[in-house]
Amino acid sequence: MESCFRLLRCIATDPSHTLATLIPTISSLAPTIAEVSLHQLRRNVQQLQARAQGAALLGVVKADAYGHGASQVAPTLIKTGISHLAVATLPEALEIAALGLPASIFIFGAPLPAHLPVYAKHGFEVAVTSPAVAEAVADTARTAGPLRVHVKVDTGMTRLGLHPSEVAVTLKRLSAAPGITLAGLWTHFATADALTDTFTQEQWSRFLPIWEQYGDTFDNVHVANSGALLQHPEVFAAIPPARTLVRTGITMYGLSATPSLLDGTALEPVMRVISRVTHRQTIAPGTTVSYGRTWTATRPTLLATVGAGYADGYHRLLSNRAEVGIRGHRYPVAGTICMDMFMVDLGPPGGAGEAVCVGDEVVLFGPGGPSAVEVAAWAETIPYEMVCAVSQRVPRVYI
Ligand SMILES: Cc1ncc(COP(=O)(O)O)c(C=O)c1O
Repeated sequence: MESCFRLLRCIATDPSHTLATLIPTISSLAPTIAEVSLHQLRRNVQQLQARAQGAALLGVVKADAYGHGASQVAPTLIKTGISHLAVATLPEALEIAALGLPASIFIFGAPLPAHLPVYAKHGFEVAVTSPAVAEAVADTARTAGPLRVHVKVDTGMTRLGLHPSEVAVTLKRLSAAPGITLAGLWTHFATADALTDTFTQEQWSRFLPIWEQYGDTFDNVHVANSGALLQHPEVFAAIPPARTLVRTGITMYGLSATPSLLDGTALEPVMRVISRVTHRQTIAPGTTVSYGRTWTATRPTLLATVGAGYADGYHRLLSNRAEVGIRGHRYPVAGTICMDMFMVDLGPPGGAGEAVCVGDEVVLFGPGGPSAVEVAAWAETIPYEMVCAVSQRVPRVYI
């Protein structure tokens, strides 16, 4: 706390010390940080580009680039040659637009008609997800300015998109409206990253005739996500690569919902989350630890308190399940994860845990500790959620 006051005094007394110039100081004061390797991100993107057989990647930077920090990730993607970016929401698009990058910005989510003039103003590319959206898009293009649209067909995800039977009439409406460019025809796969997947082929066989009939009127087509890029190259290879985009998200960040899909690739995680030991004590057998008293020492125990909790994105489900890395050893979480702290069983006095000191690094996931995939399994989720959940309180440190 004292160091925070020093920081604030420093800002107050020296106007050259804006908060922005002191950000590195703030990250060095935080008990928990997320290291993000932009170098590894670039390496991952280059590998994915090589796999895409000439198709261009559409870099998915929604949810603050899956928690990695869109303001750093997006410019890095541009440096690797990516010129199409996608987000989920309008506010996310505005944040990316503020970076002034030479890239198109496509918004995956269904637009609310009232927001369409904002798309027109900023040149954001619109998802046409229903006949009603097509109607609203046609009106907006007439009254507020031209729009580039991506017509989505629902082939089995059952989330957003035109039913195949609605495509003909919707395209007729859009083609007749002034100011509309048909930028993309697309669909989204529900199971492309599943190991025993036959549904992607089924979805593809529903999409292909639509592409064959109407593809010529679109600038681009995009069907593949990371799972399809790794597992179903035949799907996007069926369309001329010069007009194909591959919507890559999780693999750029070196992860997958099905980790074995990464075997044999050189894709590596981009994020590592590290906290610190903030307290250490020896407790007697029978002593209970943390809220709810869900863990009891069965022997004299060295116990470390770590400065991270569920408010940092370290899920409460990790209570009594996860392991962390300290000084090259794995130690189990003892007791319930709190909002800002959790405890770790360092073993009996006299063991390896004896070397652990207040201030030591605690790897929550990444090299030196468990992988994000392991932690996701303990938290009964997928690695996507582990990285997205790392909260805004945790400074991202770019290495
Ligand atoms: C429509 C759409 N396309 C592509 C992606 C990227 O998927 P992935 O991260 O599996 O590559 C997502 C992510 O959820 C998505 O919603």
